[in-house]
Amino acid sequence: MKGRKRIAALTAYDYPTARLLSEAGLDIILVGDSLGMVVLGYPDTTSVTMADMEHHTRAAARAMPRSLLAADLPSGSYNTPEAAVANATRLIAAGAEAVKAEGGLAIAEQIKAIRTAGIPFLGHIGMLPQTIHQEKRYRIKGRSQEEKQALIADAQFLADVGAFAVVLELVDPPVADEITKRIPIPTIGIGSGQDCDGQILVFNDLVGTFPWFRPRFVKPRMEAFALMREAIMAWRASI
Ligand code: KIV
Repeated sequence: MKGRKRIAALTAYDYPTARLLSEAGLDIILVGDSLGMVVLGYPDTTSVTMADMEHHTRAAARAMPRSLLAADLPSGSYNTPEAAVANATRLIAAGAEAVKAEGGLAIAEQIKAIRTAGIPFLGHIGMLPQTIHQEKRYRIKGRSQEEKQALIADAQFLADVGAFAVVLELVDPPVADEITKRIPIPTIGIGSGQDCDGQILVFNDLVGTFPWFRPRFVKPRMEAFALMREAIMAWRASI
C-alpha cells in the first residue's frame, strides 16, 4: 500500500469493536497492549500478561475481520528469542495474523527469530510505552541527532529483517517524514505528524470512551462516554 493508499489502523480488544472496524473497512486492527489502560484499568501497559493478550485476541478474532488482525507481545514476553517465538506462536494460535513488539535493534535477535519462524511482524519504534517506568513520561523521540540516527537505524533494520510495516509512536514529525521516505515498508504514525504512510489510534481515544487519560495529539471524533452517561441518566429518570 505504500505510496498508493494511506493505511488506517485502530485498536480493538473485543468482538463488537473488531466487527465494527472490519465493517468500516479499516486496513489493520491491533489488539494493542493499550488494553491494559483503556480496558483493564492499569496505569500503564506494563502489567498486561500473555493470558490477557490471548483472551482479547480470541475475542477480536471471533469477529473474523477482513482487516489484518495484529496483536501485541506484552511486556516481558519477548526477553529472549525463544520466548519471543513461543509467545508470538501463542498469539497466532489465538487468532492474530501478525504480532508487534516494541523496539528495533535492541531486540534484533528476537525479531529475527520471529521472522525465521515465519510469523508476520509489525515493528514499533519511537516512544515505547512498555518502557514508561524507565522513561518516566511519554515524550517525543528524535529531537536530538543521536535519537534521530538511532530511529533511522531501527527503521532500516526493521525493513531489512522483513517487518511488513512499522509503527512510529511520538516521533518528531520531520524525522517520521524522513524515515517514511527512506524505508521501503509503510510507516504507521501515532502522534508523529501527517507524513507517515498511515495512522493508528487507540479506538477508545478516537470515540471518547476513556476520558480520564487522553494523549494530547488525539482529536476525538465523538464523546461516546458523555453520550452513554446521558442515556443512562435518561433511563434512570424513566424507571
Ligand atoms: O498498544 C497499542 O495500542 C499500540 C498502539 C498505540 C500503536 O501499540
